[in-house]
Amino acid sequence: MLIINTIAELKKAVEDVKSEGKTIGFVPTMGALHDGHLSLIKRARLENDVVFVSIFVNPVQFNNQDDLIKYPRTLDSDVELIGDYADYAFAPSVEEIFPTPPTEEYHFGPVEEVMEGAARPGHFNGVGVIVRRLLDWVQPDKAYFGEKDYQQIAVIRELVRQCGIQSEIVPCPIVREPNGLAMSSRNRRLTPDQFETSANIYRILVESRKQGDVPQIKAFVEAEIAKISDFKLDYFEIADDKTLQTVHSLAEADGVMGFITVYVGEVRLIDNIRYK
Ligand code: PAJ
Repeated sequence: MLIINTIAELKKAVEDVKSEGKTIGFVPTMGALHDGHLSLIKRARLENDVVFVSIFVNPVQFNNQDDLIKYPRTLDSDVELIGDYADYAFAPSVEEIFPTPPTEEYHFGPVEEVMEGAARPGHFNGVGVIVRRLLDWVQPDKAYFGEKDYQQIAVIRELVRQCGIQSEIVPCPIVREPNGLAMSSRNRRLTPDQFETSANIYRILVESRKQGDVPQIKAFVEAEIAKISDFKLDYFEIADDKTLQTVHSLAEADGVMGFITVYVGEVRLIDNIRYK
């Protein structure tokens, strides 16, 4: 795997690959890589000739400065984890990507106005800024995103539609720890006790599938989360899997999912589950 740090080197690598008529799979990440990221990279490996991974903690998508400062940065072990599966790792500095503050403004409509978009003002604009630039530079045939950040995929689909980007967006299933906790770079900030307690998030989501319709599911999840002293619920929403708008009964949409965000101490964890 070749590590590159500049946009010029990245564009040159892409040009060389394209001139050989090879297909490109791309996995954008913020590093602190784990088996969830690796599952995307392995899928890209299977479906494309050449795999690019970006590793960049994108400051403009953090609405909380403390979260940005504390975000884990582990480039050496990241390179080790993915070295056998990716061909190019693009790991630029902040100055390389943002020599001046970005001015692009995106409007993704209803899919960005709920849940993460409502809870983290500016977050999805920041995601749009970096993903748009990366897709422009890498020009992938396919770009891979995890369903742990389900709403992010909806936003990126809208970005691709608005900007006429040709890349296919490939959603990939959530990879979990043996105890059920969705893998996340932020899990590294949990104490061993908090890590064990956090397994309750997925347990509660799984049990919520047996509770009946939307009001019963909501009441169950809220009550169960409240029982765990380390947890503070940010939101739990039950929504249409395409529009991401709230539904009041499971019959309201063809696909329905639950979306949860919980603070475990200072660490904000997200997860989701399908009801139908
Ligand atoms: P990051 O949180 O590093 O995640 C990179 C990709 O890995 C995302 O598509 C995310 O959904 C996926 N992923 C993370 N944990 C996963 C898990 N447990 N199972 C499956 N997939 C998982 O998401 C971002 O970075 C950024 O917003 C980014 C798109 C790179 C833009 O900066």
